[in-house]
Amino acid sequence: MKEYKRYLVTSALPYANGPVHIGHLAGVYVPSDIYTRYLRARGKDVIHVCGTDEHGVPITIKAKKEGVTPQDVVDRYHEIIKTSFEGLGISFDIFSRTTTETHKKIASDFFRKLYDEGKFIEQTTEQYWDPEAKQFLADRYIVGTCPRCGAEGAYGDQCEKCGATLSPTELKDPHSAISGATPVKKPTKHWFLPLDKYQSWLEDWILKGHGENSDNEKWRPNVYGQCKSWLDGGLLPRAVSRDLDWGIPVPVDGADGKVLYVWFDAPIGYISATKDLTPDWEKYWKSEDTKLVHFIGKDNIVFHCIVFPSMLKAHGDFILPENVPANEFLNLEGDKISTSRNWAIWLNEYLEQMPGKQDVLRYTLCACAPETKDNDFTWKELQNRNNSELVAIFGNFVNRALVLTSKYFDGVVPATGNYTEYDNETLAELPKLRKSIEDNIENYHFREALREMMNMARLGNKYLADTEPWKVAKTDLSRAATILNISLQIAANLTIACEPFMPFTSQKLSKMLLMQKMSWDSLGGKLLEEGHKLGEVSLLFEKIEDAVIDAQLQRLADIKKANELAAMKAPEQKQEIVFDDFQKMDIRVSTIISAKKVEKSKKLLELEVDTGIDKRVIVSGIAEHFQPEFLVGKQVLVLANLAPRKLMGIESRGMILMAESLDGSLRLLSPNEKIESGAVVG
Ligand code: MF3
Ligand code: ZN
Repeated sequence: MKEYKRYLVTSALPYANGPVHIGHLAGVYVPSDIYTRYLRARGKDVIHVCGTDEHGVPITIKAKKEGVTPQDVVDRYHEIIKTSFEGLGISFDIFSRTTTETHKKIASDFFRKLYDEGKFIEQTTEQYWDPEAKQFLADRYIVGTCPRCGAEGAYGDQCEKCGATLSPTELKDPHSAISGATPVKKPTKHWFLPLDKYQSWLEDWILKGHGENSDNEKWRPNVYGQCKSWLDGGLLPRAVSRDLDWGIPVPVDGADGKVLYVWFDAPIGYISATKDLTPDWEKYWKSEDTKLVHFIGKDNIVFHCIVFPSMLKAHGDFILPENVPANEFLNLEGDKISTSRNWAIWLNEYLEQMPGKQDVLRYTLCACAPETKDNDFTWKELQNRNNSELVAIFGNFVNRALVLTSKYFDGVVPATGNYTEYDNETLAELPKLRKSIEDNIENYHFREALREMMNMARLGNKYLADTEPWKVAKTDLSRAATILNISLQIAANLTIACEPFMPFTSQKLSKMLLMQKMSWDSLGGKLLEEGHKLGEVSLLFEKIEDAVIDAQLQRLADIKKANELAAMKAPEQKQEIVFDDFQKMDIRVSTIISAKKVEKSKKLLELEVDTGIDKRVIVSGIAEHFQPEFLVGKQVLVLANLAPRKLMGIESRGMILMAESLDGSLRLLSPNEKIESGAVVG
């Protein structure tokens, strides 16, 4: 495997149209932060760049919805996102944005170079145009009925109901999300990157270069698999410009009203962010000695593995990623996270509602990160991870070691006597765990790395439980000294081992141990000298009570309920009829005389009713909605002249009228006051 001199780590630029949520964190930012913190601790030359993705249609839609400008939207969310990342200790070297002057220049120059060198094709195609708003409609601005599942409100590029990828021309009943008008097709010129020309190069680079038998880093199966299926499908030219008024203007003559497609400009944002970070930016982007790693979620794979690399290749000055460790999706309490349905845990809200619990979230999200398949986050899991791992193992171990040292040795690291075999075995575990954490992080197996870090705490906890220094101290203080010295060494090692995963805990623990920040290289050895005075002891983690979790679950239940209500819509009106059609119906107020279940049927009730005309039997499919006893004596409306029909061998003459609620439940229709049976309704 190649040795690199420096690392350039990028995290997907979040859209500045909403706060980030736990799905983003588990998928991208927690892993990328662990990776970079680890490399920094090892003293590597590494930078981690990110920023907000501030162009594109989602931003303009949000602005329109709120009646503000796109600039207002991105200013607001850039701030919220940046602050919340800082709050969680995500340690970017720069958190930039794609509306900076640097970025506009770099992205324009990038386009211009490809344009001048004839790397694009120009093509006029028919696109949907809104005749009322007088503008071309981006895919997201066209809504209609999904051709796959029939859901209304599907977007021109995607149906959120069934997840299908669509193109706007497939939508049934398309209309403009801006004006509601039916769009018409109109020709427009755009620039396309001919991905087909990069197909065979991409095949070599990805399938051979990063596949099973390559000398380079092998890409994760999910990433490799998606790339392979795109390549097997055959690549087509892709438009890199759009008709929009929000974005970076296409920097050529005759391109009025056209901007760079957001997926063209956004990844270039990694380059501009680097340039804004350091005048030395070129060494990160233009030297083969740099290892470039993109952290992304799975919906970004094609852009980072196929489109952006083709752009970089076409440009020629820049390096390509060595790896793209994309995660799958994180669900929340069994449901897909959705910004539009507010089904998420938003980072800014978490930080407010759970102060001081940043590492609990980082720990839980890393432990349940969707590294190989979609995974579920639950509040119960966060509580369990906290109470039975962080509190019961990590915190408990550290606390016992420190409290006992303070009790028996006045808070000073005691001198060691001879080591037992068990002591030696225990200490020998530390470098092994270190190696395992390293290997796992370097191979992007962050969950496993986290487990090994926790195993270091387990090691300490078990060592204390087995050696029982609180008992030994009563008879053999020098043996207790050895045990506590070893325990403190393990605690000190934990400050280093846990730092990439739980930086706040690492800091707190270092302070308790009065330790200087130490580099990763010292991990595995003896870190505290005899006679070293320890700091003040406090609790590293606190138990999370059921009430806290219940409140969060209640919040989610409220959101679910609100969504259900919002989704309910009265069905559309039926076709028009004339009065004569209505007159044909003979509807009578009737009284239910008796009611019983129809044998062997779940749904049917056999009712005897007095219609005023006669007493008759009506079989009604309402057994799942009403108890027979409840119905007896009730006045209802009956369609009396409906042709008789047989249900389960019983002849039914007429129909009881019901109102069906939007949620599917039924209500009887009764006159507001009692009236004689046989009264005519009309
Ligand atoms: N904003 C995109 C998303 O949230 C990610 C952009 S990544 C970049 O899916 F590379 F384009 F910057
Ligand atoms: Zn659908």
